[in-house]
Formats: sequence, structure tokens, C-alpha cells
Amino acid sequence: MTDTVTPAPRDTVAILDFGSQYTQLIARRLRELQVYSEILPPGTKASELRRRSLRGIVLSGGPDSVYAKGAPRCDPRIFDLQVPVLGICYGMQLMSHVLGGEVKPAGRREYGHASFDSHDGSPLLRGFEVPARVWMSHGDSILQPPAGFRVTGSSSTNPVAAIENRERSLFGILFHPEFNHTEHGLTVLANFLDICGCKRDWNAASFVEEAVEKIRAAVGEDGRVICALSGGVDSAVTALLVHRAIGDRLTCVFVDNGLLRKDEALQVRRRFAERLRLKLVFVDASRRFLTKLKGVSDPERKRKIIGREFIEVFRSASRKAGRARFLAQGTLYPDVIESTSVRGPSVVIKSHHNVGGLPRKLGFKLIEPLRELFKDEVRLVGLRLGLDEEFVYRQPFPGPGLAVRCLGPVSRERLEMLREADDILVKEIKAAGLYRSLWQSFAVLLSVRSVGVMGDDRTYQFPVAIRAVESADGMTADWARLPHDLLARVSSRIVNEVRGVNRVVFDISSKPPSTIEWE
Ligand code: XMP
Repeated sequence: MTDTVTPAPRDTVAILDFGSQYTQLIARRLRELQVYSEILPPGTKASELRRRSLRGIVLSGGPDSVYAKGAPRCDPRIFDLQVPVLGICYGMQLMSHVLGGEVKPAGRREYGHASFDSHDGSPLLRGFEVPARVWMSHGDSILQPPAGFRVTGSSSTNPVAAIENRERSLFGILFHPEFNHTEHGLTVLANFLDICGCKRDWNAASFVEEAVEKIRAAVGEDGRVICALSGGVDSAVTALLVHRAIGDRLTCVFVDNGLLRKDEALQVRRRFAERLRLKLVFVDASRRFLTKLKGVSDPERKRKIIGREFIEVFRSASRKAGRARFLAQGTLYPDVIESTSVRGPSVVIKSHHNVGGLPRKLGFKLIEPLRELFKDEVRLVGLRLGLDEEFVYRQPFPGPGLAVRCLGPVSRERLEMLREADDILVKEIKAAGLYRSLWQSFAVLLSVRSVGVMGDDRTYQFPVAIRAVESADGMTADWARLPHDLLARVSSRIVNEVRGVNRVVFDISSKPPSTIEWE
């Protein structure tokens, strides 16, 4: 949401991020337990935390030793805020260190499974059946907890694996409860939320209600909003939320750049204009894009051209759509945390991934109603707002579209071949029930030609590559072991049904070193 809107008070748990790769997972788990949680920088001041309607604080794990130079610290006054604190792994060691316990510096890191045992009934460990297999990843160990703390659990490798100061509601555990491989991990987090006295009312429905209120407050009685629909889930959910808040004062713009998948433009019209009744300005700019792309083979040049044209087309469409002061965008929580994370702005988002985004200097005030949500939460909100499952669980599609899957120069004819081949592949994968388990699955049209025979004739045509990968976030990926009979069906259908294609190959490379897209 924009800076101008004060968030409504709701039970919130803050997670201070000390750099663990699982910090986001803690936030997601707490939200699965229906409590809103947000990730904040490690050094967030106690006074800042007091300003929020906080019910509890979690100190995340982290890769450092508390003794390491530059290791992230917390404001020591957070332990006096009189809200429960749960330190996980590094968070536990830091809490001990700050409050005067004795922490042994890391010799080597303990990483993997351990057996955890609990001695006597800590409220944090209620319902936690011991011994339990838990996931550990830590360097330092605690030799002596701070005064006022007692040891409530130990592990096969560590005598001090859980501590508490019940009077002050301060707790520490050495294992990662957020991790799937920790037995009863969710129980520990649920217990902590009970200790915090949190209401369990964060869900898609309450989010929608709150977001709609905030949008109304930000836009005012007669403000107008414009939103670029990309055909993807994030912009669609953004648009539907804004539409629910202000109705037809929202105008959506959809640009057909000629690089979409089969029937995509038609489906966007049907879904959003006809069924969901959004005011939609539909711009067929395919000729303009394809003209600019003519003869261009270099992938980065393709991206730049597409990005630039998109901004121009959007700018002129938005002028026609009337005077909107606000621009709604589908920014998600991981993008927001990236910029405040303990590691600083992350290097993982490549600049080219912003193609399809709009520059801030267009002069709109931003409305970003999904800024608090993870992708899976966006999907749930989408379902709540009336989007169909097929759409909500779509695989990601790059901003530059088929241009980066049509190797070499793109042309209407080549795009048509690619569209048909891709459509066959996706339909077969859906029919085999594999679509949702794959991060992405698509066809790529190569720019070399190879020899084949069809009937009595020799052919000299283009190969299509099948790319199918499994991945959690697109940063790394493994090629999917698709069943051979599925591959056989896809291959034979593509070669028989798509004119100009005489060969199908299957891409068996993982990322890294290969990327998911071919260009
Ligand atoms: P790569 O090919 O770098 O892709 O392994 C990782 C993820 O990002 C998507 N991708 C893009 N998305 N604009 C986008 O909006 C782009 O230029 C772009 N290039 C790659 C890709 O589909 C995959 O999900």
C-alpha cells in the first residue's frame, strides 16, 4: 500500500531477519497459522517495534557466529518490550549473548537432523512429542544460559537446545521449527502464537476486506486508477482488489504485443472484460512490436525493445483512458523484503526480469495492495476474488513472452509455429496431470534447421525443444523427468501437426549452469 495509509491495527508478529535462508519460511508458517507476520531488518529499534501493534517477536536464524565481525545485532531493548520473544538458532544465541549468557564460539557448523528431547513442560513445547527428529543448522553453542533462564530441552549433540525465561516470556530453540523436516515444528510456532495471545484471523477473506478499505482511503472519493494487466496472476489479483474497492474508476490496460501464447489475448478479454467485468482498454500493438523486432536476434536487444515499446504503448493508452492519478502494481512481499534484507538488496533479481514493469517517473502515485503477500497467498486471494483455479495456478511467463523462446529473429510465421507447438505440449502436460507440479513447461523454436523425411520427401525444417523444469523459485531448477510415453506423444503430435517442424528434442539441462529460458 502507499506510504500515506496507516495500517489498521491487527495482531502482528515481527520477525527480525538475521540472514537465514529460512526467514521467509518463518513468516509463511506464521501466516499459515493465520497470524500476520512481517520481516524486519535485524537492528530495528525497540521504539519502532513498540509503534506497531506487535504481539510477539521472532529472532530468525542466521549464518554467523555471534562473535563474528559484522555479525548482525538486535537492539537490546527489544527484550524489555514486554512482548514474548522467540529466538531460533542464531536468534537464540544472540539472545543469550545479549542477556549475559555464555556462548561458545563456533568450532564447526552442525548441520542436519538431530534428536531433540525436552525435560519438563515448557509452554512452548506443549504437545511436542519427544524425542523428535529436528533440523539443525548452527555454529555457536550455549554453555550457560543467561540469569533467569533455564534449559528446557537438549539434543543428541547439544545439551542446551531449548531455553526459557517464563516470567519474561523469552524463549530460545536451537532447531528450525519452520522447516518441513522438523517433526512438530508447526506445534512449536502455534504454541508461541498462543503465548503471544494472537488472534488467528489472518486469511484471504480478512486480507481482502482490509485491502479494499485501504485502497478506498488512498484513492479517495473520486480518484482514478490505472492498472496494466499482464495476463499473469499478480496483476490480475491487483486489478480485482482495486476493482472491488472503487469499481469503474479503475481502468485496466492490456497490451497484445504479438508475443503471447495461443489464444491468450482472447482469454484475457473473456475472463476480465466479460466475466469479471473490469473496464478494459485492449491495445493490439502486435504489428508495432513485431516491426521493431524485425531482424533482431540478440536476446538483450529483444528485451530492451519490448520493454521500451511497452512503456510507450502503455503511456498513450493511459492518456486515452482518462486522467488517472494512481497506478496499481502487483509488487509482492519477497520484492519488498529483498530491498530491506540483512544482506542488502539482493543480486538475485536480474535487471532483465523487470521487463514489463513501468518506471516510477511516469508520474503516478503507486497503489501496491499485494506488498504484504507471498505468491501462494496471492493465489488464495485470487480464488477468493473469483478467479478460476486454472488461471490462478498458471506457470510463470516472462515479460518478453515468446520473443525469448523463438530463437534468432522473430516473425509472425515462426511465432505461429511456436504457439502451436507450445499449445500441444501444455495441453498434454495438463492431461497427464503434471502441470501444477512443474515450475514451467514450454516449447522453444530453434533457429537452426535439420533434415527429416516425410512420406517420400526430404524435409529441411526447424526443431522444437521441450523445456520442463521443477523449481521452488526459479533461481535454481532441475529438468523434469517427464515420462517417456508423454514425451513420445508430444513429439509425434508436434511433428505431425505443426507445419515447418520436423524434429523434437528434450532439454535435459539444469539451472545452473543453464538458465530456464533459452535466451
Ligand atoms: P532464467 O531464464 O533466467 O529465468 O533462468 C528465471 C525465471 O525468470 C523468468 N524470466 C523472465 N521474466 N522478464 C520476465 O518477466 C524476463 O525478461 C525474463 N527472463 C526470464 C523465466 O521465465 C523464469 O521463470
